[in-house]
Amino acid sequence: METSTLEKKETKTDFLPLHGTDYIELYVGNAKQAAHYYKTAFGFQSLAYAGPETGVKDRSSYVLIQNKMRLVLTSPLHSNSPIADHHRKHGDGVKVLALMVEDAYDAFEQTTKRGATSSLQPKTLTDANGEVKLSGIKTYGEVEHYFIERKNYNGVFMPGYVEWKSAYNPEPTGLLYVDHCVGNVGWNQMNPWVKFYEDVMGFKNILSFDDNDISTEYSALMSKVMSNGNGYVKFPINEPAEGKKKSQVEEYLEFYEGEGVQHIAIATKDIVSTVKQLMARGVEFLKVPSSYYEDLFERVGKIEEDIEPLKELGILVDSDDEGYLLQLFSKPVEDRPTMFFEIIQRKGAKSFGKGNFKALFEALEREQDARGNL
Ligand code: FE2
Repeated sequence: METSTLEKKETKTDFLPLHGTDYIELYVGNAKQAAHYYKTAFGFQSLAYAGPETGVKDRSSYVLIQNKMRLVLTSPLHSNSPIADHHRKHGDGVKVLALMVEDAYDAFEQTTKRGATSSLQPKTLTDANGEVKLSGIKTYGEVEHYFIERKNYNGVFMPGYVEWKSAYNPEPTGLLYVDHCVGNVGWNQMNPWVKFYEDVMGFKNILSFDDNDISTEYSALMSKVMSNGNGYVKFPINEPAEGKKKSQVEEYLEFYEGEGVQHIAIATKDIVSTVKQLMARGVEFLKVPSSYYEDLFERVGKIEEDIEPLKELGILVDSDDEGYLLQLFSKPVEDRPTMFFEIIQRKGAKSFGKGNFKALFEALEREQDARGNL
């Protein structure tokens, strides 16, 4: 997120100026082990920790970082806890999509006066390193958006956390920042949530896909991409559409037991190198048949990359008017077929890989079928 290119005009007219994703918090069953997984498999680095040793009595949180992407993994310490309730119902999943703002109090004021429901009243946390201001509102499912103002803070993460120094530090894999975060919502819920992002957060609908774009013989979905003013924060919203069989969004809703974050797309500058490392560390990806590559150049035009490594790793390519993009989707990272990751390298293209949907969904359906959920 090249914050330096933020246009002044945009900031003035935008009632909710965002500098990008501050962090993503997952509620998980065992944060200590999940942290080990995200370090080992994805190359995240240990950053900060909060828990009983730091005066937090109901949870443990591990903060990981890779370039500009921060991941917070939180587990409850007792069964009598809203975190435990969340985990019992949903399994591991995203609880907070935290956004970097100039003014967390104003972000709360601007969004709640436009109809957002508060999930965290604005507050200021202080320690020897300065202050962090934060506030929060609810979005789809049980997901929340936090607004984080950290311009007067120079500690590792935020007050309440201590630096986490670990003797185990696997190499990063080239993951840079959050490109977009996709939500799955229920039948007929896409448009109400599109309206929420428009009215409450000042986002715009920059792309739409209907079931004619995104369908295979069996399943379908609809999607609208919501973006904030400067484009640093993009939230596509999916809902299921009628198909012959159960769609991937329906499978998600059934197993997550509600609406939630479907995938987090992380940018890289070199997808071949990143994916090679992720695979070597045990991250599993969806595989398209090798026939996908037969008409690749006719479909996307000329690309700079050699086709062989792309084919070998199963990396997908799509193009739009502005350039092309390379992308690959992981399998779900939990036992429930719920959240997964996308690795994306943009070469000018600002779209989301529409040309890959069919091949991708057929790959997804093979997975669904293997789980007995098609
Ligand atoms: Fe995506």
